[in-house]
Formats: sequence, C-alpha cells, structure tokens
Amino acid sequence: MIMPPKKQEKPTKEKKDVKKDVKKDTSAESELIEKKIKTPELLRGFKDILPVDQGKWNFVRDSIRSLAESYSYDRIDLPVLEKADLFHKTIGKGTDIIDKEMYVFTDPSNRSVAMRPEATASAARAYINHGMLEQPQPVKLWYTGPMFRHDRPQAGRYRQFYQAGFESFGADEPIVDAQMIVMGLQIFKDLGLNVKVQINSIGTAESRSAYIPELVAYFRSHRSKLCDEDKRRLQKNPLRLLDSKDEVARGLLDGAPQILDWLDDKSKEHFMKVIEFLDEVEIPYELNPFLVRGLDYYTHTVFEFLLADDEGTKAQNALGGGGRYDGLVELLGGRPTAACGFALGLERMVRALAKYDINPPQFPEPKVFFAQLGDAARRVGLGLFEEFRQVKVPIVEAAGKNALKAQLEVANKLGVKITLILGQKEVLDGTIIMRDMESGAQETVDVKKVIQLVQKHLEK
Ligand code: HAM
Repeated sequence: MIMPPKKQEKPTKEKKDVKKDVKKDTSAESELIEKKIKTPELLRGFKDILPVDQGKWNFVRDSIRSLAESYSYDRIDLPVLEKADLFHKTIGKGTDIIDKEMYVFTDPSNRSVAMRPEATASAARAYINHGMLEQPQPVKLWYTGPMFRHDRPQAGRYRQFYQAGFESFGADEPIVDAQMIVMGLQIFKDLGLNVKVQINSIGTAESRSAYIPELVAYFRSHRSKLCDEDKRRLQKNPLRLLDSKDEVARGLLDGAPQILDWLDDKSKEHFMKVIEFLDEVEIPYELNPFLVRGLDYYTHTVFEFLLADDEGTKAQNALGGGGRYDGLVELLGGRPTAACGFALGLERMVRALAKYDINPPQFPEPKVFFAQLGDAARRVGLGLFEEFRQVKVPIVEAAGKNALKAQLEVANKLGVKITLILGQKEVLDGTIIMRDMESGAQETVDVKKVIQLVQKHLEK
C-alpha cells in the first residue's frame, strides 16, 4: 500500500536555528533537535521539595528548632564536602555506607573528597578543630542539612535526604543518653506522631571483641544458607549481620547469641541506668537485642525511632537513630571525649505526617483579602500591604486579576474573614471598603484607621 506523504511540519524558530548550525548533516540535525527538546530529568534518588509540601517541612523544621533552643543546643552548620578519609575512619570499612554508598570523587586539587553521608563525624571534627574541649562541657550542638548516600532508592530512601541532628560532647553520664531519647520522642509528640523507641547496648570495643567470635561461630554454622552479601558481612564486619535485610539472616537471629549477654560490668551498669531513667519518666521503650546501627563508631547505648504501628523489620522505616560514641573524638586525634547524639530523617517525618493526614498550612492562614481596582489603588495598596505585614496580620491579594468579581471569588475560596476593597473613588476620598465575608455587611472606613479596625474585627 502506498502511504500518503506526511504533511511537512512547519519549522519552529528553535528548529530553524538548529538547522543553521548543521545544514549538511541531517542525522546530526535530528540528534541535536532531540537533545534540545528533551526535558531534563531528576537524578534517581533525588527530589524537589515542592511548595505544596512546604507546610509539612516547615512544621518539622520549626518543631526541631524550637526543641533544640529549649534544650540549649547551639546551632552549627557543617560543610557538605569533607575529606573522604574523615568518613572512612569513623563510619568504618565493612559498613554499607563506606563500601557502597559514598559519593566520593577527586577534586581539582587531586584530593579525595566525599559528599557527607552523615554529620556526626563532621561535628566531632569541628569540636576538635575549634578547641571546643576548652569550653564548659558538655558542648551541645545541633545541625540540619542534606546528606548523600548512593543507596538503592525506594519509598523513604533517597540519595539526597535531610537530617537534623543533636550531638552532646564531653559528658559520659547515662542521663545524657536518656535525655537524647526523651528529646527525640518529644519532637515526634510535638508533631502529633505516635513513635516508639527501640534500644540496645553494644558495650565497649572490648566487650564486642569477646562477643564477635561467638556470633561468627553461630553464623558460620549456617553459612551455606546466607546470601552473598551476608557471607561478605560474616567475613568483613560480622556485627552487621544483626541488621541484615535478608529474610534468611533475619530468621536465624532468634538462635543467635545476644550482645547484651556479653557486656562487661561497666557497660551493663551504664545501660541499666539509662533504662532506669527512662522508667522514671515513664518513657516506654522496646529492647531490641539485635539493634547495632549501620555505623562503626557507636559504644554503649544505641537507639532508633519508629512509628508505633511499624513492624520494624525494614531498615528504611526508622525515623531517626543514634547512640553514644565515646571513642570518636579520640579516633580523630582529639582528647578522649565521651559523646552521644542522634539524627532524624526529615523526609521520613514528612512522609509520616502525610500518612496520618497531618496537614499544616504552608503559610499562616490569611484572614484578610485585599481587592484593588485600578493603578491608583494598587499604588496605595503597596504601602498598605507592608503596614499589615509589620503588624503581623496575614493578608493576601490576587495580583493579575482585575475584575472585582474575580478577586472576590479568590477571597471566598481562601475563606478569609474580611475583604478590603480599594477603588479609584476610595483612593480619592482617602477611604477603603471593609467587607465582613460571613455576613456580607460592608462599610466604608477611613484608610488611616483600617489596620486598627481590622485588628479589632479579627479579635471578635
Ligand atoms: P543514621 O541511622 O544513618 O544515623 O541516619 C539517621 C536517620 O536518617 C535515619 O533514621 C533515617 O531517618 C534518615 N536516613 C538515613 N538514610 C536515609 C536515606 N537514604 N533516605 C532518607 N532518610 C535516610 C546517622 O546518620 C547518625 N549520624 C546519627 C547520629 C547522630 N548518631 C549519633 N549522633
């Protein structure tokens, strides 16, 4: 069958320009056109945080900041890029983060640098670099910002994600560990989320060195059943078997030796005290003997926050986690310094708000709508708008809509209490119309008194 010739597409301006560049080479031409019109895509595991979600994000950020301030934590901002070695040394070889997930590259000065996968190591570095040891202890720092891990993206797991973290340096008392847990739970409570905490102790490096051979012997007797990843863990970092995501390894956990049975007396005492403090303030907790966390710097108490209705079997579900890390500062060349902290995953907190239909507004709900008719009114409006902002009365307008009807429709949709209407006549008279949106009643008032009148009306 002979097909009718396709109607020739009229070249657009953009295509014409491309044509000029590659007049003779038609294949290069089509390739170029394709390149020009292809929409850019997000990198996998990265996402935009859109205006529609900012209400939830602000709610999370504000709750965290307000808690940090009330517990006297000082804000610190740490760089996103650090020497890669900082993380190799502290998070530890054999962990998923170091072995598979770090964004490492050589910078133009030929230095190996990494996009930070977490910020505890950076906080410890800053503590040493800025001589914070000389300040009254404990030094309490908090931070928030993006972290980067090249993990397999899935719901609640991104390659760029935001954390807020709290770190306390220079206090070894178990009360600090308990206070971290109380603070974390308080943030979730402020957000209206029902969250539980799982805790465990992994003791000191010495107590672990007594435990690990037992653990290895146990898993070695089941080696043939393990997946390749867990076989690798058995060899390189056996403690990680305890938080394996593989069903077989998880099934074997029931019979595995528990680290709590191998703690030395001092570690046991420390952990008992943490638990006693939690009991005293009636904080419910779950003991999870297999909680070890995915970073090597921890000592003694480790904990994770999960939604109360969570089965707790998926690593990507933890809303936050932390623990004590008494050896970290020394490992980085500082003096021995006890420390403890935790970090929260902001995307997961925002996701939890959505799950429970908690929808804080993006801005404070506007109470007043400002309709302006004509340029003279708009000019007066500019100043008036600013005066309302200064007295903190949220006011909105519909710039771009000229007709009063269209503007009033927007006011109705927003559900404001008052609409102010300013037209040519009012500008000349020095007045403005104030309309009560519920009753529809309106009056013309002196423009100089309008702020006062609106404030009074809103108080009713
Ligand atoms: P982490 O458990 O690796 O600990 O991360 C803390 C939280 O960050 C997690 O519980 C989770 O909510 C969130 N998170 C981690 N990875 C991702 C991801 N790929 N996508 C989305 N959210 C994620 C730390 O980072 C330690 N620095 C915490 C700490 C502070 N320990 C002592 N002080």
